[in-house]
Amino acid sequence: MHNNDFRIRRYRIPTAKLDHEVRICFLTDWHASKKSLTGSFLINILRQENPDLILVGGDMATAASFESLKTADRFMREAGRRWQVYYARGNHETRLYQSDLSHKRYMEYIHRLKKAGVCFLDNTHETFETGGNKIEIYGFSLPMGYYRKPFPPSLSYARFERTVGKVPDDRLCILLAHTPLYAEQYFAWGADLILCGHYHGGVVRFDEHHGAVSPQLVLFPRYCCGEFKKGGSTLITGAGLGEHGFLPGFPHPHLPLRYNNPREFVTIDLIPSGEQETLNGA
Ligand SMILES: [Fe+2]
Repeated sequence: MHNNDFRIRRYRIPTAKLDHEVRICFLTDWHASKKSLTGSFLINILRQENPDLILVGGDMATAASFESLKTADRFMREAGRRWQVYYARGNHETRLYQSDLSHKRYMEYIHRLKKAGVCFLDNTHETFETGGNKIEIYGFSLPMGYYRKPFPPSLSYARFERTVGKVPDDRLCILLAHTPLYAEQYFAWGADLILCGHYHGGVVRFDEHHGAVSPQLVLFPRYCCGEFKKGGSTLITGAGLGEHGFLPGFPHPHLPLRYNNPREFVTIDLIPSGEQETLNGA
């Protein structure tokens, strides 16, 4: 499926660490609102894609709106009942968690999703087992200061590693890290697969890898969208399932700012051997 508003972006990644194919659906930056793709639309796409597991890169709700949290709640609980779901925080989940106004509602959201089977990864990791294969999934959360506009701070490798722990060397490792801003640290850590979002394809998209601006107002940000390889690691930055206002102090939380930049649903097939292949759209 591919039109001006939405597409499914497919990747195939070879790995010697699995003996059978594993399908991941990666959801990020939905920012659920009345103008978003609906939860039932996403459930239908998930049913069509039939993943072994769902990985969530954060920002499924928009922090400024409790209605958004309710919409994300309904969808995430349904996904959790049907599939194995691992959910890492974005900056909006962190804002919901940290704010006195929303903390209680956010904790209720987490509680309900956990009851539906969703596994939260907040600087923690879990093992997904499939047919004798083990995949270690890590979720990296950053304090809000690292999302500062317009000059986000640097993040040392030592601090990153202290936060997430040591990379496992005996099994396939996936890192969910909301912002690609610190991609060099993720690559140095050595996850087999790194999944990011946050940049919404750069709002104005130039090509598969390049867009105009990040939410921190960095122009032409690196690792903006698409697939990148370094060492033995593959990084994929999803362009996001939705959008919201990104200008400092901008009053409308759901202004649909995307140009040449369809909302993106990501499906990743991990294949046990063979050549890498990337399929655009579907
Ligand atoms: Fe974000």
